Parts: sequence; C-alpha cells; structure tokens
Amino acid sequence: MCGIVGYTGFQDAYDIVINGLRRLEYRGYDSAGIVLENTANSFSVEKTKGKVDDLVNISNNLKGTAKIGMGHTRWATHGVPSDRNSHPHVSNNGKIAIVHNGIIENYDTIKTMLIEKGFSFKSETDTEVLVNLIQYFITDLNSETDFPTAVRYALNEVYGAYAITVMHEDYPGLLVVARLGSPLAIGIGEKEYFIASDASPFVEFTKEAIYLEEGHMATISLEDGVDIRTIQDNSKIIPEIQELKLSLEQIEKGGFEHFMLKEIFEQPKSIHDTMRGRLIVNEGVIKMAGIWDHVERFKNANRIIIIACGTSWHAGLIGEYLIEEFARIPVEVEYASEFRYRNPIITDKDVVIAISQSGETADTMAALKLAKEKGAFIYGICNVVDSSIARITDAGSYTHAGPEIGVASTKAFTAQLTILSLIALKLGKHNGNLGNAEFMSLISELDAIPKKIEEVLEGTHELTQNIAKDFINATNFLYLGRGYNYPAALEGALKLKEISYIHAEGYPAAEMKHGPIALIDENMPIVIIAPKKGHYDKIVSNVQEIKARKGKVIAVVNKGDTQVSSMADYVIEIPETSECFSPIVASVPLQLLAYYIAVYRGANVDQPRNLAKSVTVE
Ligand code: F6R
Repeated sequence: MCGIVGYTGFQDAYDIVINGLRRLEYRGYDSAGIVLENTANSFSVEKTKGKVDDLVNISNNLKGTAKIGMGHTRWATHGVPSDRNSHPHVSNNGKIAIVHNGIIENYDTIKTMLIEKGFSFKSETDTEVLVNLIQYFITDLNSETDFPTAVRYALNEVYGAYAITVMHEDYPGLLVVARLGSPLAIGIGEKEYFIASDASPFVEFTKEAIYLEEGHMATISLEDGVDIRTIQDNSKIIPEIQELKLSLEQIEKGGFEHFMLKEIFEQPKSIHDTMRGRLIVNEGVIKMAGIWDHVERFKNANRIIIIACGTSWHAGLIGEYLIEEFARIPVEVEYASEFRYRNPIITDKDVVIAISQSGETADTMAALKLAKEKGAFIYGICNVVDSSIARITDAGSYTHAGPEIGVASTKAFTAQLTILSLIALKLGKHNGNLGNAEFMSLISELDAIPKKIEEVLEGTHELTQNIAKDFINATNFLYLGRGYNYPAALEGALKLKEISYIHAEGYPAAEMKHGPIALIDENMPIVIIAPKKGHYDKIVSNVQEIKARKGKVIAVVNKGDTQVSSMADYVIEIPETSECFSPIVASVPLQLLAYYIAVYRGANVDQPRNLAKSVTVE
C-alpha cells in the first residue's frame, strides 16, 4: 500500500531511489515519483501516473545529479491515479516535499482550515494537506519553528496512518521520517543512510537496519546521523539496530518469468523451512517455543478466535478445522474488518490468533489491538519478521516462507497451513486428545508434504498449462470442495479472480444445490477438489449433479482415482495424504492453473490491477 524510498550518502540518489521503487512496486503501482536535492540545494521533482518504468521514461535526465532524494510508488486512496495525485507532494511555498504511505483521516478539516489561511491545493490527496500543514507551522504560525519541529507539530494534529519522509530546501542534507501504522525501515550503511517501507531496497548495501517504532520520528543526515524521538513529546529514543536476514537472491526472480511462479515452485522449500527445527519426527516432538511457553493459556482458553483477511483468512478457516479436530478447543474465524467494528465479546479467557503474511494489514492490526485491550492473549502467525503485527502480539510463530513478492499469495498460504497444522497437533498431543500412534503417523505425513509438493509441481506444471489454454475466454468459474477442502476451494477461486479478472466463486460442494447449481450449464467450468480421504462419495454425487447439467469439470483427485476421473472433463492428479493436510497439496495445482490462465490472458500476474501486497489502509 504505497512504497517509500529515501537515500542520503555518496552514491547516485537517482539510481538508489529508482531501483528501490522497483523492489517496492508490489506495494502499489498506479503512479510513481521522485524528488532529488541537487548540489544547488534546490529540488527536482518528477512524477507520473503509471509504473516505475513510466517514471524512468520522464526522469532519467536526473541520473547523476544528486546524492540525496526520495521516491514513492502509489496505491491510490484519496484521488484517482493521475500525475497530479502522484507523490512527492510539494508545499505551497515550493520548499517542502513529502512522500507518504497511509491515510490522514482528518485531512478534510485541516484542508478547510488551510484554505481559510490562503493555502491552495493542486491534488485531491490527504498528503498534500499534510505537507502544507508542515509549512503552516513554519511560516504562518511561528517563524521560529524549525523544520523537524514543524513536522512533529503537524503529526500531532493528524490522525490516521502514515509512514512519511519529508525534505526541506532550506535544510539541505536532512531527511525527516515518521511512522504510525505504516512500516518504515532505516538502513545504516558506511557514510550513507537508506529509508524504505521494507528492507528490500537496501539489502545489497547494508545488513544493519532500524525499524522505526509506532509513534516515532527521526532526523537523518550524514553530519548528525540518526536521531529518533517520540512524535508526541519529542523524547529521545535509543534505537535498536537489527541485523537483516534478507538476502538479495531471495528478492530476485531467479530465472522465473514472474515472482508468482517462482514462489509457487519454492513451496517444497518454504514448507520445509516452516517446519525446520520445529518438527522433529525421529524424536516424535513438535518444538514451538511460542506455543509451549503459553500452552496452559491455549489449553484453558474458552475459545480461540482467528482473525485475518483474504488468503490468510482462508488459512484461518482450515486452522479452525485443524484445531477443533485435534486440540478440541472451540475456534471461531473472523474477517478482521468485521470483527473490529462489531463490538465482539472478548474476555481474558480468549486466545486470539492473527494470521498475516505481511504483518502490516491495517484491519488485522486494528482487530488485534481491540482484542488486546479487552484482555485476550494475542498470538501472531506472520511471514514478515519484525512486522507491526509480529511486534504487538504476546507471542507468535513466524512462517519463515521467505519474502513473498507476487501480489497473489501462494507460498505464504501453504506455510500458514503448515504452522496451523503444527499448532493443532502440538496442542492435541498436549491436551491428550491425540494418542501417540496417531500423533506419530500425522507428523510423519506432515514431514512428507514437501516431497509430495515436488511431485505435484512435476506432474501438473505442463498439464495445468494445457488446461489453462482451454479457459482463457471463460467469464465465470466455480470452485467446490468439502470439509478441509472447502476453504481450499475459496482460495482457488480468489487466486483466479485476483490475477486473471475472471469472476470465480468458491463454495462448499454440498451448498451447490442451494443456489449456485442454477448457474451450471455447458459454459460453466467447475473446479472440484476430490481427494480420496474426505467425503469422497458425497463429492462423487456432486460431480454427477454437475455433469447432469453439462458443466465442465476440472477435478483434482488422488493418483489412481477412477470414479470422479471417469466423469471429469479434465483430471489433475495429486498424491494422497491425510485429509487434514490435503489443502496444502491440492492448492498447488490451483495456483498453477490460475497463474497460467492469467498469463495466457496477458494479465500482469505479479501486479494485478487495483491490488497491493500490503494493505496498510482499511
Ligand atoms: C490474496 C492476497 C490477499 C491477502 C490479504 C491479507 O492473494 O494476497 O488477499 O491475503 O490482503 O494480507 P496479509 O496476509 O498480509 O495480512
């Protein structure tokens, strides 16, 4: 949800900012802009609707002109994507420039006040209001106010979410940054500093970073280094410098055409990494410090509430099946966006699990804060290390899937399912609901999943391409599954719709007859997940009902299947596994199918329209 890059040092700021924006483009890609402070201490600003490539087309004359600057890649909130609404925004006096990720909720009231004071606005954005409010504190209210203090005053007047970087022509060499609700990292190099929404823009230059905390701001200059203060009362903060684990290789495409395909193919490894050090099959144990340290909290919980959005919410639904089946603790799964606004009953006997790949999703974050205020124990399942959600939870487990850059979530989803499986099995064993023999058989099966995914990738990669070719002109798809594979059907449908723009719906197969069956005719493709274990006979009946109405069936079945396969128009075979782990295996060919349909339709799979990877606004 918008990416920010800033730089001051000895290298060409243009190159650093542009390359950094390319790495952050997954966060938003409807417009991009850059501002550089040249040697005469004046600003050069270029910005445009479109992608970073479009920005490069209009700005490469700036290459080599500056050692300090900042840039922005946008996901529109206030105001349509346009040149005018692109960042950076510059104050009325032309001296202050800002890039912003987030939303200023009270911008309208402030804008009215500023217009009364004589300010004018070129864009419809909340950001232009903020930069003029900063100017107002310097020029209008009190000419003694210095630039960083004016930023602080302005931030104390706004509410909403922001990560900002601000520059002032009269303060050469100085970058002022702040965050509340949107992430910001400061990379510490040798005689250079980097600013970015995540560490990917500077990973090849330094391994040392400060993740700015909520409600903090910093001044950054080569002369004075990094000075961190609280926004509220300017108290000095001693920062914690962290060592980055991220490598350049992890954030590059590695020979794949798209990040999404690379990430689909990484799943044997990412699932293995998720289990590494946790699942020790030969000792018959699952080691998870986050769970173990609070195991009584879980055991004695009245219920577990899982909150998440999108794909992570689908993982949560499977988590409900897993935890209720093995740990016998009641589980409810909620959309974070609904939970936070519906005055839910939460007590200190509840355990709330938040699932989030990015760890920055605004709705999930707000729902968690609400649960925390009401005394619940809050647990995080995040992929991005040190993300905001990871930091506010009482405990948690990282998925360790590695950076996920394709906007459509793939490996993070299967890693979330792996963590949820580990949690359910660990709690089940501890609670005494899972006997040793069953526990041992399940953990051996879980341990075998990466190998089975390798088989799936090998066996279905070409097949899904061939199937995809037949459906590039489809306008609708239905995805059906039962039990554990009902949420897998929801996820399959989400993957297809978000990257190919084909309307797709997921349903529990048995619900088909309560409505969606009316849609079925010879033009309706229906993806049905039909593994041997898990209501197979019922699924057979569902397929018969579909075929009686001439629907086109694409069936995901286990190797050697005959009954469903004999009726289906297309058959995708996957290896057999325990029912509870079958969504992990079945999701992989559905990801490939969605990917190839989107590719053959000419869609930009890594950056689908209107979406962003990290939804830091509500
Ligand atoms: C779908 C997708 C989104 C995210 C959702 C939550 O492919 O990526 O639906 O799952 O925006 O994001 P996180 O998991 O980062 O909280």
